[in-house]
Amino acid sequence: MSKFKPLNIRLKSGEELEIREASPSDAPGLLSYVEAISGESDNLTFGPGEFNMTLAQEKEFLAAMEKRSNAIYLLGLLDGEIVAGLSFMGGMRRRMSHAGEFGMSVRKAHWNKGIGAAMLSTFLGWCRRTREIRKVNLRVRVDNRAAIHLYSKFGFQLEGRRTREFMIDGRFVDVFFMGLDID
Ligand SMILES: CC(C)(COP(=O)(O)OP(=O)(O)OC[C@H]1O[C@@H](n2cnc3c(N)ncnc32)[C@H](O)[C@@H]1OP(=O)(O)O)[C@@H](O)C(=O)NCCC(=O)NCCS
Repeated sequence: MSKFKPLNIRLKSGEELEIREASPSDAPGLLSYVEAISGESDNLTFGPGEFNMTLAQEKEFLAAMEKRSNAIYLLGLLDGEIVAGLSFMGGMRRRMSHAGEFGMSVRKAHWNKGIGAAMLSTFLGWCRRTREIRKVNLRVRVDNRAAIHLYSKFGFQLEGRRTREFMIDGRFVDVFFMGLDID
């Protein structure tokens, strides 16, 4: 049984975004989605062809995510097509299970329509309802202005900077650590 009730959000474009939890049957669509976004920006931890998960591994991963009370993989869909993804994993051990890190993405053709905000707002609502999750963390490239703007709008605070997190085309890129308390 899904721990997340699917919902629809009307975007400012008039399109209807469906947000639901991913299940193992989404594995083929999700792998295609991930391959597509890997070539649409240099903001992710992987580039084209680097994700390297087999269909079986992806199915297993989604099944495990579905079972966990402090982890979730949310999908955003327009007309049944995956256009956004947000995944969060809380810690596996008791002392760490209240906190975790998330990552998110939106297909480039749909940037700046409010999909990122809809995904983040829905995710944070879910976090608050769990009563288990008390801290949400993220890492973002220091030059990813759209993402930093979005996270700041939702109250994420800057917690630090790590140098040389990425090396892309021979150039180091730093990341900011940002976090939000869930109370
Ligand atoms: C970051 C990302 C998820 C945002 O998704 P989105 O659907 O475009 O987000 P939204 O439309 O809800 O919001 C984007 C906001 O950024 C703002 N923005 C866009 N470009 C910007 C820029 N260069 N500088 C500052 N703000 C910018 C928009 O104006 C909008 O803010 P507003 O609603 O207050 O006007 C999307 O750009 C993406 O997938 N990028 C590639 C992957 C990535 O960077 N993931 C995050 C890794 S930490």
